[in-house]
Amino acid sequence: MIKENISKVLSEQVNAEYYSAYLYLIMSAYADRTGFKGVANWLFIQAQEEMAHGTHIYQHILERGGAPAFADVKTPEAALGSIKDVFKKVVAHEEYVTGLINNIATIALKENDHATYNFIMWYVNEQIEEEASANEILNKIDFIGDNLSLLYNLDVELSARVFTDPFSNTAD
Ligand code: FEO
Repeated sequence: MIKENISKVLSEQVNAEYYSAYLYLIMSAYADRTGFKGVANWLFIQAQEEMAHGTHIYQHILERGGAPAFADVKTPEAALGSIKDVFKKVVAHEEYVTGLINNIATIALKENDHATYNFIMWYVNEQIEEEASANEILNKIDFIGDNLSLLYNLDVELSARVFTDPFSNTAD
């Protein structure tokens, strides 16, 4: 049976994952409406992944006999100035999420909850990838500068991203 404080912090993470999905949907809508359909696609898939994360953590709480707690999902800040601004905020947000995940790992260890520790390790690794891919795009945008044809190429590149359920091949 999962301890209450672990169940609570995991429930907060479910909320944070849905907040992330909302944030990326806001960004995706901004990109779509400013003509960057590829960027919009990348962010839309990012939002889908966040919803999959939230659902996966929710299932873990139930599987361990816990009671998921629900709270309002905050409305993310909608003001976005440019595509570069979007990706600066993606990087900052993923760094913030890494902190949340690390905190769960720390609490799980402190509570001797090896099942949750093992579960959350998937997210520790995922965050390495999340930060790396966001940083890679931000670096490309820095390199592109004011070159519109290179920016167009990046948009085409990001249109190729497709959603694959990250948990389709795992038992948990
Ligand atoms: Fe659920 Fe972007 O990490």
